[in-house]
Amino acid sequence: MPSFRAPRGTYDILPGDQPYWSFAMRTAAEVASRFGYGRIDTPVFEATDLFERGVGDATDIVQKEMYTFEDHGGDSMTLRPEGTAGVCRAYIEHGLHNQPQPVRMYYQANFFRYERPQAGRFRQFSQFGVEAIGDGSPYVDVEVMELGWSFVRALNISGASLRVNSIGDSECRPAYLDALRDYYRDHIDDICDDDRRRLERAPLRLLDCKKSQCQSIGDTAPKSTDYLCNACKAHWVLVLALLEGLKETYPDLDYYVDHRLVRGLDYYTRTVFEIEPENAAGQSTLLGGGRYDGLIEEIGGQPTPGIGFASGLDRLVAHVKSQEDFESPEIGPDVVIVHLGEAAGRRGASLAAGLRAAGVAVLVAPAGRSMRAQMRYSNALNARYALIIGDRELESGEGSLRPLQEDSGQAGVSLDVEAIARAVRGA
Ligand code: HAM
Repeated sequence: MPSFRAPRGTYDILPGDQPYWSFAMRTAAEVASRFGYGRIDTPVFEATDLFERGVGDATDIVQKEMYTFEDHGGDSMTLRPEGTAGVCRAYIEHGLHNQPQPVRMYYQANFFRYERPQAGRFRQFSQFGVEAIGDGSPYVDVEVMELGWSFVRALNISGASLRVNSIGDSECRPAYLDALRDYYRDHIDDICDDDRRRLERAPLRLLDCKKSQCQSIGDTAPKSTDYLCNACKAHWVLVLALLEGLKETYPDLDYYVDHRLVRGLDYYTRTVFEIEPENAAGQSTLLGGGRYDGLIEEIGGQPTPGIGFASGLDRLVAHVKSQEDFESPEIGPDVVIVHLGEAAGRRGASLAAGLRAAGVAVLVAPAGRSMRAQMRYSNALNARYALIIGDRELESGEGSLRPLQEDSGQAGVSLDVEAIARAVRGA
């Protein structure tokens, strides 16, 4: 017999974990709608070209992490490794530039990357992401960061910090990349093999290298903010001023400029940011994003600015689960019907059908077990009430309704759907 397991880097979310997920997803939807973002859903797979051009040929994602397949029609398709490219494709395809700009959208979906699995890093993972497309102003940058911060706070995750940087645009970045290459060429013997390979193709990525020998070299590397053109500089100065203003509302907003923050996707321009948890280590970034003013044009639309972020719900849920005071909403049934004898079992089954149709959550305890075993079952399911039916109850037409969550004693209840529903609802 083969013994199957979930594929490496994937996981099951069992019923017991669902309250944490529902809380995170409900909070995401609430925060997004408070900021005026409407939900968008895009396909799980898209043309491979979209990601090659959108995310960028030189990125790790496109080079080695995509789940790409040829479909039966001979077209190359890819399971989405991220959400921004698909949302931008939808913006162009549906002419959303005709709506008031920016168009604000959010999504909660699964994404796929063939990565080396480790704590907080999966091959199928879940993101809550937002995109504001059609407005290039710094006000939108800070609105999006405020949204991300509010989301993390609404999940009661404390001690997080916001890292920001500006990596310029197509006008000023080439000079910066030249300076970076020159700098790293001077340190070519001290950097790791990976960085040596990436130096010509993707010099920004060297700043992000986690190896200790490369980190200290990165610390003294040229800073992108020293190379910004006038337009990027003005944008950056206003982003920082607006962020400072956010502290009025969020005195605990711990933001700082990190010159080594570059992000792993090629579409970013100007502002980039990430939110890290307290004691950040390894794969722990809670949320990352930035501006992508060239992306829509890159994939065939009119030049249109955009900005957004995505947060790894898997990581956020892990934080929520570690909170001792998280109050799991009651998920047990309202009533378990405990029945002794075949006639009581039949009556119980028909009452259960009637109660469920009336909106009450009911289970019938497994047949053929003792009363004690059926009561144990009701308690284990966290039910609010056990409704006990035996021969005597059938004869008198009155069952016993026993509260399981509080100490009050059991009470008689007429064996009809309306009376039981009323008693359970406390009406
Ligand atoms: P990203 O930095 O690749 O950006 O991913 C954003 C977040 O998704 C990460 O900070 C992390 O929380 C989570 N994440 C990424 N990969 C994994 C993984 N393998 N396992 C678990 N969690 C993961 C993007 O995806 C951009 N589309 C964000 C964006 C939206 N930028 C602009 N708009």
